[in-house]
Amino acid sequence: MNLRSHSHSRLLLTLSVWLLAVLSLSAAAPVFIPVETAHNALLLQTDKDGRLLMTYFGTKLNHSADYGQVSAQTNYHDSDTGFFNHAYTPAGTWNLVEPALSITHADGNVSTELRYVSHTTEATDANVKTVSVLLSDPVYKTEVTLYFKIYAKEDVVEQWSVIRNNEKGTLTMGKYASANLTFTAKNYYLTHFHGAWAQEMKPEQTLLTHGIKTIDSKLGTRANLYEHPVFVLAFDKPATETEGKVMLGTLAWSGNFKMDFEVDAYHQLRVIPGINPFQSEYPLASGKEFKTPSFIYTFSDKGTGEASRQLHRWARDYRLYDGNGTRLTLLNNWEATYFNFDQEKLVKLFADGKKLGVDLFLLDDGWFANKYPRNDDKAGLGDWEPNAKKLPDGVSYLVKEAGKAGVKFGIWVEPEMVNPKSELYEKHPDWVIRQTERPEHYFRNQLVLDLTNPQVQDYVFGVMDNLLGKNPELSFIKWDCNSVIYNAQSAYLQKTKQKQSQLYVDYVRGLYKVLDRVRAAYPKVPMMLCSGGGGRVDYEALKYFTEYWPSDNTDPLERVYIQWNYSYFYPVIASCNHITDWSKVGLKYRTDVAMMGKMGYDIVVSHLSENDLKFSQQALKVYDSLKELVWRGDLYRLASPYENAYASSMFVNDAKTKAVMFNYVVTNRFDATYTPTPIRLTGLDATKNYRIKEINLYPGTSSSLNTSTVFSGDFLVKNGYNPDLSLQRTSVVLEITAE
Ligand code: GLA
Repeated sequence: MNLRSHSHSRLLLTLSVWLLAVLSLSAAAPVFIPVETAHNALLLQTDKDGRLLMTYFGTKLNHSADYGQVSAQTNYHDSDTGFFNHAYTPAGTWNLVEPALSITHADGNVSTELRYVSHTTEATDANVKTVSVLLSDPVYKTEVTLYFKIYAKEDVVEQWSVIRNNEKGTLTMGKYASANLTFTAKNYYLTHFHGAWAQEMKPEQTLLTHGIKTIDSKLGTRANLYEHPVFVLAFDKPATETEGKVMLGTLAWSGNFKMDFEVDAYHQLRVIPGINPFQSEYPLASGKEFKTPSFIYTFSDKGTGEASRQLHRWARDYRLYDGNGTRLTLLNNWEATYFNFDQEKLVKLFADGKKLGVDLFLLDDGWFANKYPRNDDKAGLGDWEPNAKKLPDGVSYLVKEAGKAGVKFGIWVEPEMVNPKSELYEKHPDWVIRQTERPEHYFRNQLVLDLTNPQVQDYVFGVMDNLLGKNPELSFIKWDCNSVIYNAQSAYLQKTKQKQSQLYVDYVRGLYKVLDRVRAAYPKVPMMLCSGGGGRVDYEALKYFTEYWPSDNTDPLERVYIQWNYSYFYPVIASCNHITDWSKVGLKYRTDVAMMGKMGYDIVVSHLSENDLKFSQQALKVYDSLKELVWRGDLYRLASPYENAYASSMFVNDAKTKAVMFNYVVTNRFDATYTPTPIRLTGLDATKNYRIKEINLYPGTSSSLNTSTVFSGDFLVKNGYNPDLSLQRTSVVLEITAE
């Protein structure tokens, strides 16, 4: 038999096996795979050709037999341009809409088909189980397994895909999304979040029209600088905090992402989130698998408030590093000193931290590098030796002195980055991401190290190991990442004959490898995720980090909005809120806003007036008594600053016996705040009675509220309560206790 007829007969055999499979499946009854949480369901089902479709998403149906009726109720024709509601749409065959998967096979063929093979359910415990569905290409044998990890009580689903190459040669993936969900509703309202430095998480809501709306990032590192990988999707009509069908979704990936929202010809919405395929063709060798990042989502038919609380609970219990642990209050020196300090000055600041009453002193940027000292942001990144002029006795001396002063000590690092003015750059130019043939292009005078290179991974781990290994009492790390990737090119990928298009993906994977090692060696140390503000906040990074820095913008008025928007997706225990001198808004307002999360300071304590110091010392004690409630309570966003002249949020404990309500005026217009309206305290127990007391008052002021009344929960929920905000009382904190 010659080679040609051999391959012909192989093809015939493959085709007949495929035909048989198709015939037997088409004869068989459809397979239904409900992916169910406590209250919600997503329904997968096979069609007559054995393709896997998604036919339902929303509140769980009471009778599982009814799932069989779902697809017949949609006025939907599949005869022309192919199915639109495939659960993982492959490119190059019957499908002409946006695919989830596109592959160039080893022989150059660009078509892929996926047919249902089998599915399994595996329980981790009583609450968590994983449904996996195996799909396979009948011709090329490429396999895709769709994973749905179900957190039942929290109503959260974590979905990812694994693509496996069963061909003889290497295939190339052009697009390899995490998920491909299809929704059916009257209308779709997307709220997405954009920003820039010091302007993180600005929401925009849009009615999705036919065609594709894309939210993406191509920045490589600091990937969320302009767009955040999170969204709110409301079905039929815009959702409120307490009403409407709404999904919160987020991609857990610290690099380039792309989320497509396609409304198709049948008015179905297809959401395809994943790694951004932009310059990221990824090879997959024979027998190898590729696991996509997770897409995490929750659904509520009772508005965004409940959906957020579900996600918060999930994050604290299952995702955020030490999500149910404790957190340290701190004094940071960034805005207080910038690069201008030495060890004497720092030791004095330790004493100030103690006087204030915080747990920890955090030394920020500027402590390292000798040949090119880090005295501004133009030099030194990469040379992680303490600067001998500023810190002649090194980091260990600072740790010791802080301990003597009665505070713990933490330190800032930015180990993925390098200034061209550094010894590291001089020694290892090939460790730097850059186009050697072109002029370098800088972001904050710096470049990004090539984390695809295992030697660079060792180096970055080494920076951390050196710091934490030598100073076991080092109690906190702030891990920064200020630069995006320009001129994306890797000398390592070149040298090892890999593809440049792997750079964006392998960078992030390299970062996770380093963080895995850091966490294996140093499981206890709290770490703050920072990226020139909130340029890198996502649920994959938060597997390693205990908290994140939402924004360099610490103006409390801005923070009311910024923290409000992050709170849709992330629990406030992870939100680092610092009191600074960014704005001159009164110290009480600044402090109250910082209390709604993980409180810290970045001020010159010695510049505080006597009353300001007294107030701050007292506030730290108040915070200590409230922090359990704030960190672990349920968040109710009661009044939106976007819809009112004020903002109001409340945290309630599980038993609904204790709550704290934060209220802020967000305008300086007398008229806007003069007409007081009661704010409904949704989240309290209508059957209980509550006493309300104003707390965290500034020295010398007293509350205008009467504490002698006991209110019924019913009254507070239905009528509401007036915190008496005004231009004289711009920030009011209320402690609510069941009698
Ligand atoms: C970034 C961070 C700041 C500070 C500086 C130091 O901008 O967001 O908080 O650490 O770097 O250079």
